[in-house]
Amino acid sequence: MMRHLSDSLFLPLIVIQLLGTVTSQVNPGVCRYALGMSSRQISDEDISASSQWSESTAARYGRLDGEEGDGAWCPEITGEPDHLKEFLQIDLRSLHFITLVGTQGRHAGGMGNEFAQMYKIKYSRDGSRWISWRNRQGKQVIEGNRNTYDIALRDMQPPIIARLVRFMPVIDHSMNVCMRVELYGCEWLDGLVSYNAPAGQQMNLPAYPVYLNDSVYDGAVIYSMTEGLGQLTDGVCGEDDFTLSHVHNGWPGYDYVGWNNDSFPGGSVEIMFEFDRIRNFTSMKVHCNNMFSRHVKAFQQVVCHFRSDSDWETTPLAFSPVEDEKNPSARFITVKLANHMASAIKCQFYFADAWMLFSEITFQSDTAMYNTTPPSTPKPEDDPTHKVDDSNTRILIGCLVAIIFILVAIIVIILWRQVWQKMLEKASRRILDDELTASLSIQSETFSYNHTSNRPGTAGEQESNSTYERIFPLGPDYQEPSRLICKLPEFPQNSEEPASAASAASKSTTQTVVQDGAPHYAEADIVNLQGVTGGNTYAIPAVTMDLLSGKDVVVEEFPRKLLTFKEKLGEGQFGEVHLCEAEGMQEFINEDYLFDVPEGQPVLVAVKMLRSDANKNARNDFLKEIKIMSRLKDPNIIRLLAVCIYSDPLCMITEYMENGDLNQFLSRHEPEGQLALLSNASTVSFGDLCYMATQIASGMKYLSSLNFVHRDLATRNCLVGKNYTIKIADFGMSRNLYSGDYYRIQGRAVLPIRWMSWESILLGKFTTASDVWAYAVTLWEILNFCKEQPYSQLTDEQVIENTGEFFRDQKRQIYLPQPVLCPDSLYKIMLNCWRRNAKERPSFQELHRALLDLQP
Ligand SMILES: *[C@@H]1O[C@H](CO)[C@@H](O)[C@H](O)[C@H]1NC(C)=O
Ligand SMILES: *[C@@H]1O[C@H](CO)[C@@H](O)[C@H](O)[C@H]1NC(C)=O
Ligand SMILES: *[C@@H]1O[C@H](CO)[C@@H](O)[C@H](O)[C@H]1NC(C)=O
Repeated sequence: MMRHLSDSLFLPLIVIQLLGTVTSQVNPGVCRYALGMSSRQISDEDISASSQWSESTAARYGRLDGEEGDGAWCPEITGEPDHLKEFLQIDLRSLHFITLVGTQGRHAGGMGNEFAQMYKIKYSRDGSRWISWRNRQGKQVIEGNRNTYDIALRDMQPPIIARLVRFMPVIDHSMNVCMRVELYGCEWLDGLVSYNAPAGQQMNLPAYPVYLNDSVYDGAVIYSMTEGLGQLTDGVCGEDDFTLSHVHNGWPGYDYVGWNNDSFPGGSVEIMFEFDRIRNFTSMKVHCNNMFSRHVKAFQQVVCHFRSDSDWETTPLAFSPVEDEKNPSARFITVKLANHMASAIKCQFYFADAWMLFSEITFQSDTAMYNTTPPSTPKPEDDPTHKVDDSNTRILIGCLVAIIFILVAIIVIILWRQVWQKMLEKASRRILDDELTASLSIQSETFSYNHTSNRPGTAGEQESNSTYERIFPLGPDYQEPSRLICKLPEFPQNSEEPASAASAASKSTTQTVVQDGAPHYAEADIVNLQGVTGGNTYAIPAVTMDLLSGKDVVVEEFPRKLLTFKEKLGEGQFGEVHLCEAEGMQEFINEDYLFDVPEGQPVLVAVKMLRSDANKNARNDFLKEIKIMSRLKDPNIIRLLAVCIYSDPLCMITEYMENGDLNQFLSRHEPEGQLALLSNASTVSFGDLCYMATQIASGMKYLSSLNFVHRDLATRNCLVGKNYTIKIADFGMSRNLYSGDYYRIQGRAVLPIRWMSWESILLGKFTTASDVWAYAVTLWEILNFCKEQPYSQLTDEQVIENTGEFFRDQKRQIYLPQPVLCPDSLYKIMLNCWRRNAKERPSFQELHRALLDLQP
């Protein structure tokens, strides 16, 4: 195996070693070093922003992979969002060549839920003129993040040459957007700030036109190009045949800027170059096309003038390259600049034929050289006294040392992976078990009810701090954070390839897995590990076995054929909820559970089904949900009756109540009184309303005693049985009927914002205290007979703005109004539930007691 490895691995390595020296011009494929947001090489003072939401989300927290403060930079968004007003600015202190940018949202250990789906970039070389970056197709908007944790890397094509860079999130809602960023590139040693030249022209070949304009020039283009940089400094050299292009979708001539002799009576094209400071110039290299068969030739002569302060030097420098009529390949022509000191250079390039085509112009000044190894490592010194033989030996020894070093590293990595993989397996099992044992131990101590709920919540935590995914088991985006941590992206072989960032990311994932040893849950990582050592069993069957063999599992497998479909209750991305009749259910459940239907009659059940094509994550979560639900028992919480997990589709069978959900139930009824008498509608008394509200409080008291957070308490999630009995369920947003109650945040999480506490919306924080908030909204619905949506006069955006007012607490927040039926004492309780400070809100225990007192 070692032999094999050495054959395949080391040849290319040696080549890289030999090539790993200095070059005189920037290579975009290599110039991809992280510029210091993550590593803090960029200091806090050099990171600024248009605004900040709070001190803890200031600009300095906008570092990629940073977890300090509240975990990211978040701008303050007030009133109507001006989608490009906000920016995060990085001052690199000197000109840099930027080839790649990375962005991330606010993860904050699972508490964050903000990220920028789209952004633009502006940059400046001098701090006064700001330029909007556009890609080669002219598009400014860059696709950003899709979640709070993954790093989205984007190639800058064309690259940016700038000292200051601004990330400008495109904000389309008043929802908060947060960012963490990194820039990748290297210092722009050319020091060129702009070149001014006549505009490139069009060559009309018989077959098609060739456009020789500078298509990525970032200055002004009228008759000439001023104050900008463009294709001559983008690091991409043109082909020998100028009609071909490196660039995807580039038109013929894309890589070149070209001029025709006919338009220049003086026989030359003048280009003026301006630099960031006075430099000591050694050379200029001009990449020219020389396809003489098409009347294109490198320049015949160049005459350069230098300006160091305000005056041009009187004696110009002239240089004539040897005319080449034999070799049609494009080439760099080096013009020695003889240590002239200058901050501006003006050169006249004389035509040698009808056309002159340039694709790159680079400058070498002082002792600056681009290095192909990271900037921190010292540059290999050039010692001319050594003999050729000698240097060969040195290279050989160097290679051998490198080979040995790499061999050792590979062995360590392989061993490490095997160990790590075992740890990962164990860790993932332990997570499941811990969660359940925690909930179980509390449960067996305190409660002996024999009922269950279907809350797949978060056991064993006071503050559930995972993101929204768990609210909606059937909803989209149901997956755990992968916590991919991408460090320095490797340089790809072909910098033009759009997939290069992705491949760089996946490469570095493997590295991180090896390095940091923190648990990663993402499927991608596991697959990655399997790929290396093979034969891993992080798979569903293990979980299923665990589930069925568990000592206290009380759910049984139910024969599918005994279910009769009645109606579809809802549908989500991964499955459906059906209302069914189940025959002989009594035999399958515990003796202590009593149905209120006569023996032998079918019972009404809700059947939640996972589509058989659901992905592995969804399946695992579904099984986890079953596991947790099977252990919840309370008279006011919907109970898991049985499951079908021996075959697909996986099903969980829960209770259903004959009167449907509380929202529909109350909508069909009227308060007692004159009006109801006249309209002959069925009525519900205030006492019955209180009775139902008390039961909800009781069920929630039970959940909170187990530290479960419901996250979606509302009348639509309460079921009504005989005699106003209530059980809390959780259908999530699987039912179309209530889709209006949920708000899709930037195409991602779907949230019941009108029921959510301000901190749940703004900070992603779900706790029992936020359930208490939702409970008061549920009370409000009940007292209004669900005739009106909460804050019906506000749009979704305004509801979110209102939570901002709760956050700022300047008495501008709007509360739900007191319902007509609601006594003052009860409204006071509701207002207490909507206190800004979560700690000041009543507990469910207190609420339960208060409601018992209210009952007539
Ligand atoms: C360059 O020419 C192409 C082809 O005509 C045109 O689409 C493009 O807009 C031009 N670019 C500039 C900067 O003038
Ligand atoms: C420019 O650099 C060269 C070589 O490093 C050096 O000999 C020369 O003195 C420098 N010129 C000035 C004006 O510093
Ligand atoms: C360029 O054009 C001028 C006339 O405008 C002509 O005299 C000269 O010979 C041409 N040079 C070349 C190299 O074609």
